[in-house]
Amino acid sequence: MKIPFLDLSRMDQALQATLKDKFAKVLKEGRFSFGEEVLTFEKRVEDRLQSPHAISCANGTDALELALRALNIGPGDEVIVPAMTWVSTAEVVLMIGATPVFWDTDAWGLLRSDWEKAISPRTKAVIPVHLYGMMVPMADLMAKAKKADIFVIEDAAQAFGSFQEGKAAGTWGDVGCLSFYPTKNLGALGEAGMCLTNQKELAEQIRLLSNHGQAQRDVHSLVGRNSRIDTLQAAFLNVLLERFDEFQEKRRILAEIYWEELAGIEGLTLPPKAEDSNLHLFVIQTEKRDLLKEFLQSNGVGTAIHYPIIVPDIPVYKQDGDFANARKLSQNGLSLPLNPWLEVKEVVEVCRLVKEFFT
Ligand SMILES: Cc1ncc(COP(=O)(O)O)c(C=O)c1O
Repeated sequence: MKIPFLDLSRMDQALQATLKDKFAKVLKEGRFSFGEEVLTFEKRVEDRLQSPHAISCANGTDALELALRALNIGPGDEVIVPAMTWVSTAEVVLMIGATPVFWDTDAWGLLRSDWEKAISPRTKAVIPVHLYGMMVPMADLMAKAKKADIFVIEDAAQAFGSFQEGKAAGTWGDVGCLSFYPTKNLGALGEAGMCLTNQKELAEQIRLLSNHGQAQRDVHSLVGRNSRIDTLQAAFLNVLLERFDEFQEKRRILAEIYWEELAGIEGLTLPPKAEDSNLHLFVIQTEKRDLLKEFLQSNGVGTAIHYPIIVPDIPVYKQDGDFANARKLSQNGLSLPLNPWLEVKEVVEVCRLVKEFFT
């Protein structure tokens, strides 16, 4: 049996047909930038996540960069970033000329709760990353950020559909950034992203920045860039959003199998059953990670590592510090297949193989 980590060509026939119909509709209308599909998508996300302003953009990395720029963060400023994250979180800080200050995470990659020790007179913002879909405890983080008078930009790229205390990931901070990269829980058929905010002026600023600083054609009130979403991607996302809850339910069913079948294996640590998680990734930890990965691969099971090297260990981001938890996760973490296109029997087979490996 070949069990891929994620194979998007497995999307069901009904979904593929609806996506093709949508493509035909957009093609017929001949509108490929802005338009109804974009407005509808933004409105739907606003309603679903209870966020007053959803501003779509070209991808999640841009969303983070637009947020930093809109908050006037730049050269001379510091931004606190977790040591374990996808590189974008730190990349954007450097791209705008500011300095990322890395801080360790907890055992599961969430910014360690004593992050405020990294605050200096230059600190302008902190970027909590809701890694693997699990959320950083936000009430505590927000209170500390408020006390220190710094901005909060949530990197919710992996957390569309995660809620904490009934409040969506991305709606706690000054700006929340989403990615609709194809592998995400809500993934486009290409690139797309979004900023969320409840501050009207900030929303207007982000919108201006994402469209050459123009609120109306040929009137440029500031120097911006082009980071618009494709109309076609917004149209596809409108289709995918309609089935989002169903896909989430499938993830939940499959994750429960992992938790049940893999419980109590010595040398294997399962992820916490976090209530606030959208189950984006199912990351297990073992000191035998590389051997297990190889064993599964040789038995036809695809896995992934998120991420094999912590950002401050990457030469171009090099920074010294105590990143013990993050580094341990990078050495021991292994993502098992978890997505709506897997069958129950495939996940059962992955569990059987993992058990075989440990006995
Ligand atoms: C934690 C995190 N931040 C930022 C991004 C950037 O999103 P994108 O790939 O849409 O630019 C991603 C996704 O790849 C991510 O996982």
